[in-house]
Amino acid sequence: MRDEILKLEKAVLKLDLKEKRRASFNASIVNYLNEFIDNLSESKGFENDFSSSKEIFSTPFNDNGYPIDEILQLFNRAVNSNGIQPASGAHIGYIPGGGIPAAAYGDFIAAMTNKYSGIYYANPGAVNIENHLLNWFAEIFGFNKDSYGGNLTTGGSIANLIAIVAARDKYNIKGKDYHKTVIYGSEQMHHCLHKAIRISGLSECIYREIPLESSFHININELKKQLEIDAQMGLNPFLIIGSAGTTDTGVIDDLDSLRNLADKFNCWFHVDAAYGGFFYMLDEYKEKFIGIDQADSLVIDPHKGMFLPYGSGAILVKEKEDLLRTNYYLANYMKDAYAGHEHLSPADLSPELSRNFRGLRLWLPLLFHGKQIFKDALREKLLLTNYIYKAFEKLNYIELGPSPELTVFTFRFFSLKEEQSCFNQKLLDAIHKDGRIFISSTTIDNELWLRVAVLSFRTHLKEIDLLIEMVEKHFTNAINS
Ligand SMILES: Cc1ncc(COP(=O)(O)O)c(C=O)c1O
Repeated sequence: MRDEILKLEKAVLKLDLKEKRRASFNASIVNYLNEFIDNLSESKGFENDFSSSKEIFSTPFNDNGYPIDEILQLFNRAVNSNGIQPASGAHIGYIPGGGIPAAAYGDFIAAMTNKYSGIYYANPGAVNIENHLLNWFAEIFGFNKDSYGGNLTTGGSIANLIAIVAARDKYNIKGKDYHKTVIYGSEQMHHCLHKAIRISGLSECIYREIPLESSFHININELKKQLEIDAQMGLNPFLIIGSAGTTDTGVIDDLDSLRNLADKFNCWFHVDAAYGGFFYMLDEYKEKFIGIDQADSLVIDPHKGMFLPYGSGAILVKEKEDLLRTNYYLANYMKDAYAGHEHLSPADLSPELSRNFRGLRLWLPLLFHGKQIFKDALREKLLLTNYIYKAFEKLNYIELGPSPELTVFTFRFFSLKEEQSCFNQKLLDAIHKDGRIFISSTTIDNELWLRVAVLSFRTHLKEIDLLIEMVEKHFTNAINS
């Protein structure tokens, strides 16, 4: 038996990529990534020929593997050369971020060392890193350091879900109460909150979609009227959801007024600041967010406003008990982990147990680069957005949505000949086919609008000027065709 074990051990040792093999593996990957990063400024924002992606399915998992260079070439053909290029500054659609290299190195170290950051006992240092980051967020957003609770998540959707479930459990909303329990949001609320309502079982509650102001902010007077009507009807107003940076139009709701209404009607007040939150770091922008520090729960997304690669969100709640109530659990097989310490761990405050050590991807860049560079990058994006908006104002064939509060705005092309949405779809298709810069679209009141979202740390004047040039070129082509 020993011989057999040793034979298997010899085979399995290869998993560790010892010395020479690791060196050549590292060299291949570093060369590939260096080339990738060095070519990014010339790469397209979007490649709409998806055919190369199919090659993934024609490469079977064989018994003995493939050489790393062959795998990287396959990755390059089938993954890197189609769809959106989120690492590029030419990605100016949806909500970009870019993915700063220092964060990727953080992930690399986290995965190589495989430190477990779910439970304090397993690695106090790793948990301290995550808590240190959360304390920093709490400080930025004015949450009390001693009483707040927080968790680093994989993104805004999961963070919003955790918040909605915390609100449900705090207010002890049970199935028997759903028919008279009311949730308030706006048409501009991100769809992940609708998903969170569904997943948390609250879709049988009454959902009030409060009308918008013409500026796309939630209409506070309409909300107040609706709350009064609902209270008079004997319903139970429960949850008010505001946005600090809507995805479609980039506006920040009047958070202060939402807080006041939440107090008056005894509601939980949730703020989704997944997109806009980090602009609050800029002193000159604080005024736009008045009331954010008064949220019962707040969601921010470092993979947006801190430019991390995908996979980083965060939830903060005013009272940590509100996360513990839902997520804290004692299990027999975990008893060592609970012995002799009083520290709260990420696993106590979220549904996850095993998880990646996701704090390192932000902790390392913050320590390495310092805070200032992130604020400079945000300021640059704000100015670039203003610059492009002003350039579009001069084009008489463009109709603009409201002037940007942050770095997202909508626009569309005028057409005298064709129905507006059809004409804009044609132009959007042409811009996507061109692909040098990628922008996305949305529908507002059933009409198509194009969207500009400047948030990649790699988007600079060059990309913005190119977008202006593309808009002019494709409009001219369209009217001459
Ligand atoms: C305002 C807002 N909330 C929530 C989300 C969802 O976040 P994630 O994609 O990180 O799950 C987004 C994503 O763009 C967003 O813009």
